[in-house]
Amino acid sequence: MTLNLPDGPTLAFGAATASYQIEGATTEDGRGVSIWDTFAATPGAIRDGKDGSIACDSYHRYAEDAALVADLGVGWYRFSVAWPRIIPTGTGAVEPRGLAYYDRLVDSLLERGVTPTGTFYHWDLPQALEDAGGWLHRDTAYAFADYAMVVHERLGDRVKVWATHNEPWCAAYLGYAAGVHAPGRREGGDAHRAAHHLMLGHGLAAQALHAAGSRDVGIVLNLAPIWPEPGTPASAADGVDAVRNRVWLDPLVDGAYDEGLLRVAPELASAELVREGDLDLVKGSADWLGVNYYTPVRPGPVVATPDGEERHPETDAYPGVEPVTFHVQEPRTHIGWEVEPAGLEELLVDTFKRTGLPLMVTENGAAYADDHVVDGVVQDEDRRAYLESHIAATESAREAGADIRGYIVWTLLDNFEWAEGYTKNFGIVRVDPVTQDRTPKASYRWLQERLKG
Ligand code: FCB
Repeated sequence: MTLNLPDGPTLAFGAATASYQIEGATTEDGRGVSIWDTFAATPGAIRDGKDGSIACDSYHRYAEDAALVADLGVGWYRFSVAWPRIIPTGTGAVEPRGLAYYDRLVDSLLERGVTPTGTFYHWDLPQALEDAGGWLHRDTAYAFADYAMVVHERLGDRVKVWATHNEPWCAAYLGYAAGVHAPGRREGGDAHRAAHHLMLGHGLAAQALHAAGSRDVGIVLNLAPIWPEPGTPASAADGVDAVRNRVWLDPLVDGAYDEGLLRVAPELASAELVREGDLDLVKGSADWLGVNYYTPVRPGPVVATPDGEERHPETDAYPGVEPVTFHVQEPRTHIGWEVEPAGLEELLVDTFKRTGLPLMVTENGAAYADDHVVDGVVQDEDRRAYLESHIAATESAREAGADIRGYIVWTLLDNFEWAEGYTKNFGIVRVDPVTQDRTPKASYRWLQERLKG
């Protein structure tokens, strides 16, 4: 029984952000170095060569951002905590100024009637832990649980709904296999070790949080509907589903990795990696599940491209799976992701069937070029239409019987979009790249009106 998830007769709404993408102030108040600082400083890693050192300067402008959330009329704000602000080298000494920042943030939300929900890990691993092996190393899971408890001890009186990880698939496979996210490593099948340690960290943290009385511990997954193109070998489609979806869901629901996954990830059959009790700890550990959805995944047979077509950035993110490419149909957003709200509806219905857990859409939104500006206001009809169709898909899934509690838009502010730098805008509020001034876009105004009913 969860206690504090939204539970009204209609969907709850929220807006989401993530620490490294908006805070800036990366050297202030004792914050340690994160893997994203290091990765962003690597030539060629980020499309525009930029980093999160200033970002939206939300470290200083958090009150203004809390006011934007409150004015929008959503009841919830999803934020993440930067581990290197709290424990700068990953283990050991706690930095009180880091905790004080999140205190201020949480209080300024609550004062304005907004309920905060926190995520402990949205990818900013302390660099010191990466230097010791990062998520390939078992100790990182224990360090994560300790860190989560430090945060919970301080904020848990006011923040009741927590997620351990955001999109561990990206952390493990984009970070340690494809190398397109921090820490930028290309370790092939060893990335499955990272996946296991992320889940172990989730399980350890959930156990400790439950022992401390929390009943609202979730995890946020970027699950995807897998829609193979004609001619895709069944084993390839199954492998993609295994590495994208089942590697997380099976341990959570069954406390096991399935046969199809072990075929592509024999690493997960190792008793040295998956120790006795690890998966029992994960089984049943989530009280709720966050689903982040942007686009369906359409694996297809590899077709030779003599014209040197750009490789799909996720091509190497499925180690052990026979080579596939990813097809993307029209229409697409500015980041090249297919717009398909039916994928969200299917995913929510299937995920509820599979898990029986209360679900929240913890991220959904779209990047567009935002090049239609009237009187200083971005007229983002494309983004508005994307949000409207995906909210409708969420409502349909709810009507079909899936227990969906909320819909949280990604994202409040234009921000540092990881490997894309500042070249892709997902915000419903424009942020001036020089002054950091915030201006609500037309999509923000539309959502505001809609929520007024
Ligand atoms: C998700 C991330 C989020 C944001 C969106 C566009 O994968 O969780 O931080 O970058 O994609």
